[in-house]
Amino acid sequence: MIIHRPPFTIHHFATLGSTNDQLKAMDAAPEFTCVVADEQTAGRGRRARAWYSSPGDGLYLSILLLPRSDSASKLPPLGLMASVAVAETLVERGVAGVDIKWPNDTLINGRKVSGVLAEAVSSGPESLRLILGVGVNLNHRSFPPGLSETATSFAIETGGRVDVEEFRDRLLEKIAQWYVVWRRGVSTSIIDRWQRLSTYARGQRVVVTLEDEKLTGVTDGLTETGALRLAVDGGALRTILAGEVAKLRKDADPSVRQSYV
Ligand code: BTN
Repeated sequence: MIIHRPPFTIHHFATLGSTNDQLKAMDAAPEFTCVVADEQTAGRGRRARAWYSSPGDGLYLSILLLPRSDSASKLPPLGLMASVAVAETLVERGVAGVDIKWPNDTLINGRKVSGVLAEAVSSGPESLRLILGVGVNLNHRSFPPGLSETATSFAIETGGRVDVEEFRDRLLEKIAQWYVVWRRGVSTSIIDRWQRLSTYARGQRVVVTLEDEKLTGVTDGLTETGALRLAVDGGALRTILAGEVAKLRKDADPSVRQSYV
């Protein structure tokens, strides 16, 4: 089924492996093509993780952007933009305790409610196709063991239900608005908005897991390309381009044991 929500054209499926994979296979799709499924049987997260995608409970959506940017450094704010749009859509629905964990995880009361999988398909700088996959846990009443400690949903947090289509349409509106901002070249307002929505942006003690090392320190804002600045314990200021961030409790005594939240 095709649904028109300008500038987006939504291709709706009852079930798919992964909306990102479906969109990737649609070679000739124009910008603002959007694929949505009620259920994913092979939903993918970052770092080759699976994304739990039970039928009808969540929003599983991918959109195609053609950023026409000659600079890869301009792309990370598009992922941040998606998490900002999710956070704003939740806040607008009266959800309390909304936060964003760098780079693109939206949390409610410290648990993950949404993630973004950004995948670039390119056959040259002028023909970059960016697939932004967004998963939002909306009406899930529970999660499988192993996920329930870290994942949450709109329903679990608020006790209410949300209409998935209404949420989808509002989220797409917000993404479209922020994308106009990005195209004007003012990524800084996306970064500013991200920093205002996130308790991780500044002054937060965190541990950052990189490919081959772990750093502990205090966050010191994002760069204008969306990288995370970290004042590492011991003095150095590092710019983190990719890594996993976890909060360290302020009262944790590093010499005894590290407490991750
Ligand atoms: C993450 O936080 O690890 C990213 C999760 C992204 C999940 C979404 S659901 C829709 C789209 N299709 C996928 O297979 N993954 C993304």
